[in-house]
This record gives sequence, structure tokens and C-alpha cells, in this order.
Amino acid sequence: MTKNERTFITKADFMLHGGDYNPDQWLDRPDILADDIQFMQLAHTNTFSVGIFAWSALEPEEGIYKFEWLDKIFDDIYSIGGRVILATPSGARPAWMSQKYSEVLRVNAARVKQLHGGRHNHCFTSPVYREKTQQMNRLLAERYGQHPALLMWHISNEYGGDCHCNLCQNAFREWLKEKYNHNLKAVNDAWWGPFWSHTYSDWSQIESPSPNGERMVHGLKLDWRRFVTDQTIDFFKNEIVPLREVTPNVPVTTNFMADTFDLIPFQGLDYSKFAKHLDVVCWDAYPAWHNDWESTADLAMKVGFINDLYRSLKQQPFLTMEMTPSLVNWHKVNKAKRPGMHLLSSMQMVAHGSDSILYFQWRKSRGSSEKFHGAVVDHDNSPNNRVFQEVAKVGKTLEKLAEVVGTNRPSDVAILYDWDSNWAINDAQGFGSDTKRYPQTLQQHYRTFWEKDIPVDVITKEQDFSKYKLLIVPMLYLMSEQTISRLKSYVSGGGRLVMTYISGLVNEHDLTYLGGWHQDLQEMFGMKPVETDTYYPNDRNAVRFRDKSYELKDYATVIEVNGAEVEGIYQDDFYADTPAITSHQYGEGKTYYIGGRLEYRFQSVFYQEIIKELALEPTSDITHGKGVSVQVRRAPEKDYIFIINFTEQSQSVTLGSTVKDVITGEELTGHLTLDKYEVRIAEKQK
Ligand code: GLA
Ligand code: ZN
Repeated sequence: MTKNERTFITKADFMLHGGDYNPDQWLDRPDILADDIQFMQLAHTNTFSVGIFAWSALEPEEGIYKFEWLDKIFDDIYSIGGRVILATPSGARPAWMSQKYSEVLRVNAARVKQLHGGRHNHCFTSPVYREKTQQMNRLLAERYGQHPALLMWHISNEYGGDCHCNLCQNAFREWLKEKYNHNLKAVNDAWWGPFWSHTYSDWSQIESPSPNGERMVHGLKLDWRRFVTDQTIDFFKNEIVPLREVTPNVPVTTNFMADTFDLIPFQGLDYSKFAKHLDVVCWDAYPAWHNDWESTADLAMKVGFINDLYRSLKQQPFLTMEMTPSLVNWHKVNKAKRPGMHLLSSMQMVAHGSDSILYFQWRKSRGSSEKFHGAVVDHDNSPNNRVFQEVAKVGKTLEKLAEVVGTNRPSDVAILYDWDSNWAINDAQGFGSDTKRYPQTLQQHYRTFWEKDIPVDVITKEQDFSKYKLLIVPMLYLMSEQTISRLKSYVSGGGRLVMTYISGLVNEHDLTYLGGWHQDLQEMFGMKPVETDTYYPNDRNAVRFRDKSYELKDYATVIEVNGAEVEGIYQDDFYADTPAITSHQYGEGKTYYIGGRLEYRFQSVFYQEIIKELALEPTSDITHGKGVSVQVRRAPEKDYIFIINFTEQSQSVTLGSTVKDVITGEELTGHLTLDKYEVRIAEKQK
């Protein structure tokens, strides 16, 4: 169980509300900048991320600096009691730099150097870019480090992508040398070199994967992605050297992402590694609300999953660094948030551990690609419109939630998410190319608990398992010996472990285990998977579990039992009447293996038994129908209960005890009716 104490991730003891502010686009419009300061107060905002893409305003020519405009922004924001999250501007750079030092430009996988333009497209290795960012960051730290408005550092912006230039190729080779102790044979062994004659006889032959044949070498691909993560972190670490020196007490963060449209964690970088170098985790949340392929509640569940993953990375509150007050400009269809959705979606973030609601963007730009992206201030330059008013309402609500800041969400259940394994399973040529869906499968397991209001931590393979009563490990295709042995100690020490089909097939190099399933896993589970059967989209099977039949699609594992209890059996095909679900006592604990991809109804029944046995409690004594979610943040003395109606109908909920409405101050008891998209926030003394 995670701890119950408050953890203040920044110096602020209030909920941050505000967002990306780009005054550098309006320097010739002092009237607009003056309006901003006035509107910020009307919107009940208090925190602004400034300078994210301001390099050309800060250093218009090499070595010529202009900080006066930023001085004024700092002072103006502070004059209204606001705070600044100061960004380092490395996400985009001035043209003079690309022109003079072409090594800063990124080279794509086809080995084509990109021209100047766009953003998030620099080389992570370039010594020039590293030097330039450090220089700039030092100047920023020296100038603003002591400013009372400075709250935090926002390092660069949405790090992502890779660079295939010669500098990066060399860095990759050096990274490999270090990883494999300068032993080229070890690399060839790890990458299964002789396959299609891919054995290297000299380090210089090794190159990053290109759009050509190298993509078949799975070990190379996996190591490349790990290198890209490490190199990105290394670039980040280079950025923060002067900040740590000059402003050791100012926290640093960088904004993480999710992959839309399915809303799954960002695939490009291993955030479990990155988070270790940050003081605060934050992310940019852009769910496609009101889309036409899923219910609002289904989408909300996915947002909940990512929130719980990013919160669990540091086991502390996180920040919502960006979200839109209304619409975005880069979804396929850019639909406006319906009335009430902005408050609802904001409170969901807070309910899961966010200590902020920050937007992209404060003010819509007048030109270029984001001029139609939602903002607090629209082109009408007026606070008198629906979006502005909804933002102000969120602001007023957040002002009443100051006590929630720093509180946590203790939980007894964990689901294990692994970037390495996700990469490897996606590379795997086998199974079904469209049906692997690792993150989505985890979300479906998460959903059972989300619907029952049982809090979940989504953790990574290096985190402490022992504090959880239940650990769920679906589709962990890649498992190192170390992970296997950590799972083994967890179970033998009394943990409950649920695992599924396509787990534990390869080691950390994406090399299969020989001699069948790993011996330790066989012991822990009292069985072994002997075949994985993949179905065509229209194929179906069924599994009988507790006298009921549940539909199976996509995957089925043929199981050989060796001591395990059989809990469910296949009903059809050549493995009809053979085990599909097993359980096994191991040491002080127990394991379960689910051999097939079963309909959601099964999961709910299956987990309900475990929930009962382990006496896992919902987070509150509130009962409600489908589509309502109750999430709790816990302080030592109080619970803050968020009752959220993610449906388009009004919903009745029943309170198990008397609580106090945090916003209105009234006592609530008995039944409550929540309108469409309504959220109520209550507190309960312990
Ligand atoms: C990202 C970026 C922002 C902006 C938004 C638009 O999150 O960080 O600069 O482009 O997307 O949604
Ligand atoms: Zn490069």
C-alpha cells in the first residue's frame, strides 16, 4: 500500500491553473499583453509556462540576447500573484543556428537531413546544440533563478523522435560498447547475428535501423530504442547542468505525452527510465472527447490508466502540463468540448493525482499551424464567451481544492506496464499483426478495477511489488531473468500474481527462452504454455469458467498442467476440454494464468473473486451505476472524494455516509443526483 502522506511536488500549496503562454508572439502588441494580465485574473489562473518556443525572441542573432520582454512578463505575472514555469527553449531553434551549424538538424531514418523548420527536430547528440542549450539555460537560470515568481523548470518540450546522423551513429556504437563491455561477439550473440548473415566483424559496420532490412534484427531495434531513450535523457541531463548549479532548489520537469487516438502511453521513449531524472512527472492530455467510436466512460477509463501510470512512475502527485480548454487542431476531427466536459475532464485529472490544470494554450496565435487550436483567450480577445467562462469555473473550483494538493492515492492493486516489452512484442513477426494491442489489453484489465472504484497503481518492472496484494501482469512478452526472479519472490512472499497468454517468451535481448517456458515460471504457475494459437478476426472460441461460458478471440494458449488447479477450460477446437485458466499455490502466495483473450465480462467475474478473497475495498462507500467513477485522494486526516458522471444521462448515486461538499460546503447524505457530466467533490473526515 502506498503511503498516505502529502508530497508537495512544487513549492506551491495551491492547485496550479494556467498554461502555455507565448507572449513572444505579441511583443509588438503591448495592449494584448496588458489584456492578458487582466484576463488571467478573470480566468482564475495563476501559473504560466513561458518561453517554450522563444529562442528566436531571446537570442535573435547569435550572441545577441534580449531578455527585457521576459523580465516584464515575470514581473507582470508576479504582480497578480502568479507563478512562472520557465521553459528552456530547445524544442525549436532560430534559423541562424540551423544555417550556421547544420549538425543541429536531425537526420531521418532514410538518412536524409531535414531542413530548418518545424520543431522537435534537433539532433540529440550534436555538441553544438548541447553547448548552445547549456549557454542559453545558464543565462535563464542566472537571470530568473532568484525571481520570486519562478516555480519550476519546463525542460524543452515533448522530447521524442530519433536522429540518424553520423554523430548519433557514433554515439550508438559507443553506447553499445559500454553496454556489451567492448565485446562485439556479445553484441552478435545478443542480436542473433548469424541470422540472415547479420554478424558484424567491426563496430563501424553497426548502424541504426533504417527503413530497409535492419528492421528484421530485433535485438538491434530494441537496443536502438533503448539508446534513443538514453540519448534523449543524456541531452536532457546536459540541459539541466546549469539549472542544478544555479537553482538547485527549483524542480525540473519535462512534459510527457500519450499516443492518441487510442489513448495509450507514449511509445517512443521509455518513461520509466526518464522519470528517474525528473523531480516532477507531468503530461499533456488530449483525449478525443465526444468521439464517435467509444463511450465517454470508456475513454475516461483510458485517461485514468495513463494518469495512474504517470502518477505511479514517481509514486507522487503529477501535473497536467497541457490540456485544451476546448478543442485541438491535430485530431482527425477537432470537436469542441461540450458544456460541462471541461470541468469534468479537469476534475478527473485532479482525482487521479494531478496538482494542476494547465493548458495549451493561454491565447490563440494569430498565424501558423496552431491558430485554430483551443485556447483560453480566443481571437475575439474577450472573456465573454463560453470557453473562457468554463475555464474560469475550473479556476474557481481549483481554488477550493488547495487542500488536496500533495495528497496521494494509496492502492493495493498494481498492473505492470513495460516499454521494453511493448517494443519487442510489436516487433515480433508472429501472432496477429493487428491484435497484439499490449497497452490496450492492460487497459482492459485496469477497467475492471476502475469500474469498481478500486484504485490501481500502474507500475514498472523495477518498482517494489511487495506492497501490493495483487499484481497483474498481462502479456509481458519480454521478461529478463531478473524480472522473473522478482516476480518469484513476490509470490513466494505471499503475493497474488495474474499473468496471461504471450508472457515470458523472450529475455531482455528478445531471444526466446530455450527448453520451453522458463523453469521458474513453470514452478510458480504449476503449468506451462506449450502452444500459442492466433485467431483470424472472425474466429471465436469459448472458455467455461464457474459454469458459465465466455467468448474468446485473438489468442488461446494450449496449456500443460503440472500441479496447477484448472479453473477454466476451452470449449472448442483441437484443445477443447483442456485447461484455459489455471491457478497455483506457490510459497505463501498464489498465481493465476489466463490462457486466452476473453471478453470483458469474464474479467469482471474472475477479478471479483480475487477482490473478495483479498478483501480489496472500493475507495469509498458510494454506490452507483455504470459510467460513474468515484476516485479518492487521501490525506492523513481526510479523504477527498471525486464523484464523476461520465455519461450523457443524469445518474443517481447513494452515499454510504455523510460527507461534505467541498465546493458548496453543504452536508451530503443519502441519494445524490448527478446531471450529465456533473462532478461532485466531497470530503470525509477519517
Ligand atoms: C503539444 C505541444 C504543444 C502544442 C500542443 C497542441 O502538446 O507540446 O506545443 O503543440 O501539442 O495540442
Ligand atoms: Zn544526430
